[in-house]
Amino acid sequence: MALPRLLLTLVASIATVRGDFDLSNPSWNTNRDTFTATLSPSDSSSNPYSPDLTSLSFTLSVASKTISRVKITSPTDSRWEIPESIVSAGDPTPSLSIDDASFTFDYTESPFTFTVKDVDGSIVFDSSAALHFGDQYLELSTSLESDNKLFGLGEKSRSTGSVIPKGSTTTMWARDMAAAEFDTNLYASHPFFVSLSSSGKANGAFLRNSNGMDVVYSEAGDALTFKALGGVIDLFTFTGPKPSDVVKQYQSIIGTPTLQPYWALGFHQCRYGYTNLQEAIDVVQGYADAEIPLDIAWLDIDYMNLWLDFTYDEANFPSADVKAFVDQLHANNQKFVPIVDPGILAVDPSWDWAQDYDAYHSGIAMDVFVKDITNEKPFMGQVWPGPVHFPDWFHPNATEFWTAQLKNWHDIAEFDGVWVDMNEVSNFCTGQICENTDPDNCPTHKVDTQTQCCLSCSDVDPDNSLDNPSFLIGNDLGINEDKNPSPIDTKTIPASAKHYGDLNEYDVHNLHGTMEAKVTSDAMHSIRGTRSFVLSRSSFPGHGNHASHWTGDNAATWDDLKMSIVTVNDFALFGISMVGADICGFIGDSNEELCARWIQVGAFHPFSRNHNTFGAAPQEFYRWDSVAESARRALGLRYQILPFMYTLMWKAHVDGDAVSNYLWSVFPEDEATHGVDEQFMLGDSILISPVLQDQARDVDAYFPAGKWYNLFTLESFESAGEVVNLATELEEANAHLRGGKVLPMASTGGLTTVDVQNDDFSLVVALPSESDAEGLSEGELFVDDGESIEVTSFLHMVYSATSTSLTSKAVENSFDASNAVLTVKVLGVTAKVQSATIQVEGGEKRSVDLVQEDEVLTLDLADVGVGVKDEFVLTWM
Ligand code: NOJ
Repeated sequence: MALPRLLLTLVASIATVRGDFDLSNPSWNTNRDTFTATLSPSDSSSNPYSPDLTSLSFTLSVASKTISRVKITSPTDSRWEIPESIVSAGDPTPSLSIDDASFTFDYTESPFTFTVKDVDGSIVFDSSAALHFGDQYLELSTSLESDNKLFGLGEKSRSTGSVIPKGSTTTMWARDMAAAEFDTNLYASHPFFVSLSSSGKANGAFLRNSNGMDVVYSEAGDALTFKALGGVIDLFTFTGPKPSDVVKQYQSIIGTPTLQPYWALGFHQCRYGYTNLQEAIDVVQGYADAEIPLDIAWLDIDYMNLWLDFTYDEANFPSADVKAFVDQLHANNQKFVPIVDPGILAVDPSWDWAQDYDAYHSGIAMDVFVKDITNEKPFMGQVWPGPVHFPDWFHPNATEFWTAQLKNWHDIAEFDGVWVDMNEVSNFCTGQICENTDPDNCPTHKVDTQTQCCLSCSDVDPDNSLDNPSFLIGNDLGINEDKNPSPIDTKTIPASAKHYGDLNEYDVHNLHGTMEAKVTSDAMHSIRGTRSFVLSRSSFPGHGNHASHWTGDNAATWDDLKMSIVTVNDFALFGISMVGADICGFIGDSNEELCARWIQVGAFHPFSRNHNTFGAAPQEFYRWDSVAESARRALGLRYQILPFMYTLMWKAHVDGDAVSNYLWSVFPEDEATHGVDEQFMLGDSILISPVLQDQARDVDAYFPAGKWYNLFTLESFESAGEVVNLATELEEANAHLRGGKVLPMASTGGLTTVDVQNDDFSLVVALPSESDAEGLSEGELFVDDGESIEVTSFLHMVYSATSTSLTSKAVENSFDASNAVLTVKVLGVTAKVQSATIQVEGGEKRSVDLVQEDEVLTLDLADVGVGVKDEFVLTWM
C-alpha cells in the first residue's frame, strides 16, 4: 500500500535527523541532583576527524540553583581532564534537586540531544544531534536565539567590537601574537560566552576544556559549535537572568579574582628600551616634577644581563644601583615591578660567561624543565636569551625551583610584584627537537637578530598525531583570510613535548600562563608575606584567582585605543578584574593627541600602565604639556576615587562583581546599550565617555535614563536614555556619576596610593532624578591594610541617602581606620537648605556648617570630628 504523501515526508525527515549518538540507561539518582546515562554512537555516526569512542558516559548534575554541569567522557579510557587544583570546577558535590533548580533538563534518546531551559522556557543550551567524541576531535553544538547578541569568547581583538559577529570563528590556542593584530587568536583562551536577548535577559555557558579548539558561530546566528582537539566535554550553563548574574555564576565555578594590593591600583610607568638605569630614574623624577601621580616604576628585559632571568646587566643596570633605586622608590612610598620570562638559558658547555648561571643548573638538577618528544631531554626552544628550557609547572619541584630563584633575586633588590611575560609559551623556533649546533653564534645577543631562530630544529616524528591532528583549528587565521591555519606547534612548545606525569603539551598548552602566574603568586606570598601582584600575558579561566592581565602588544593607534575598552571589558567577563591595556600604545610612536586621550581611558581601567616598545619614541605623560595636564586631571580623579575602586576590587573578590563593565551589563533592559563599545562603567556607578577621535573636541555619548553628574564639574543633567554631546577639550576626561549612588572619595587624593590611604574622606551623594524623589542613593566602602594575604580585619561601611539625609552604617568594623570624613557633598539638591545636623552613634546631635551653590550642598564635618568608621545620621532641611 502506498504511504500517504505527508507520512512519507515525515519518515524522510526522521531519517535525516539521525544523530551521532543514542542514549540508553537513563537514570536520576534518588536526590534527583544527578542524571546519568550511556551514549553509544549510532549507525550514522560519522566523526570527520577522529573515530567516535564506542561508549560514553553522560552526567548532568545540578551544580547550583542556576548552574547545570554536563559531563561527557569515556568510562573506560583515561583521558585528559583539567585537574580541579588548576581550574576549579566549583563545589563537586551537587546537593540540589533538579526540581528546585531554576532550569529544566530534557533529552531525546535517539538521536541523543539534551536541552537546558530557564524557568521561562528560554533556551540556555540546546545540543544538536551532531555530537562527536573521538580521541582527537570533540564537537558539541547549541542552538541560539538568532536575535540574541553574544559576548565573550577570547582572547581576541575583534575589529567589529564587543559583539561576536555571526559567521565568525574564535580559536582558542594561546599564541604570542600582538593584540594589535585584530581578529585572530591571541595570548589566552577563554571558552565562555554570554548570550543577551534584546529584552536584556542573559544566560551563558563555559566549556571547561583546555585543548585547542574552534568555536564557530553560525552565519544565521542560530548555533554555536565547540570543536575541540581533545579532553572531555565538561560544560557549565548559567541561567542568569541578568548579565551580571551570568558572570557571577561563572565565577562561582572558576573562582573570583584575587584581591590586589592597594598600591597596584596606583599608576604604573614602564617601557621596553631603556639603555641604562638612569633613564628609569629620570622617568620617576619626571613624574614627580610634573606632579603626576606615579606609584610603580617598572623595568622590562633591558635590565637583564644578556636577557637572562634573575640577573642584572652590571654595566648599565648595576645591581647595587638597582637596589638603591628600589630603596629610594620605597622611601617615596613607591613600588618596583620587574619582568621575568619563562625561558631559562640552556647553558652550552663552551660558554664561560654562563657557567655559573644557577637558574639553569638548579633547573637541571631538580629536573623541572618541560621534556621534548623523547621524554628524556629537556625541550629546547629560543627566546630572548637564546636557547632556553621552559619550567614545567606540572612538575612537583617547580614551585620550589621558581620560589628559590625569585627569592635569591629578591635578596638583591626587593621588588614588590612580578611581571610574567611570553608565557603562551612564546618560542622563536618551531620543531619537535631543537639543538644549539652553533653555540658561538647562537645566541646573537643582538636585539634585531635575536628573534630569528638560531637553533637547528627537526621533526623526528613528522606524522606524530599530537603535532598534526587531522582537525586544523584556525590558529593564526584572521577573518576572510585566504590561507591555511598555522600548525599548532608553530613558534611555541610543540604539542608532542612532555610534561610531568606523562602529560602532553597538546592537552595543557593553554594552561601555561595561568599556571606560571599561580606559582609566581604563591612564591611571592612566601617570599614577601604580603598580597601578591603578578601581571601575566597569557591566561585561562581561573587566572583571576591568582593574577592580573594586560592586553598585550597593542599599537599606538586610535583603533587600538578603542579596542582597549572592549578587551578590558571582555576580561571582566572572564573573571579577571585587574586588567588594563598599554596606555598611549605599545607598538609605534605615540603622539600628543592620542596619548592625551588615552590616559582619559586608561586612568579608569583597573590596571593603569603606560608602556611602549623598544625604539618607539618616549611617551611618558610629562613629555607634552597637554598630555601632562590630561594625566594630572584624569589620574587626579582616579586617585580620588581609589577608595571606591578598591571597594569594587573587593566586591569582585568576594562576590564576582565586575570592576569595569560594559553598559549592557549594568543596564541590560536598555537595548540601546547593547552595542555600546566606546564607553564603559566603573562598577554600576561611574560612566566613562572618552573622546576616541583624532582632533575631536566633543563626543556623542549615550546616557541611560536617569540623572548624571559630571565628576569634574559636578554639573548634572537628566537623560531620557539618549545620546548627549559632551564638549571635551584635549585635557578633559568625561566621568559621570549616576544618580542614586553614594561615592566614597579621598578628600584630596595625592601622588601615591599611600597618600590616598592616609587621606581623609569625602562622601558624594548623587541624588536620583526628581521623578524618583523617594528613591534612595546607596554606596559602600571597604577599607583594610591593603596588603594582608588573608583579609581578617577590615571596615565595611554602607551608605544610604534620601533627599534630606545620609545614614552611615558599619557592616564590619574590625579594622582600625583613623581617617576622618571631612565633607559630605550632596548633588542634585534643588530646595534651599537652611540647616543641617549630624547624630554620630553614641554622641550628641551637632549642627553642621553648610554651603549651597547651585544644586550642590557641601556639608562640612571637619569641626564635628566624624571618623570613617563612625555610624551616623546626617540630616539637612
Ligand atoms: C612582549 C611583551 O608583550 C611586551 O610588553 C614587552 O615589552 C616585550 N615582550 C619585551 O619584554
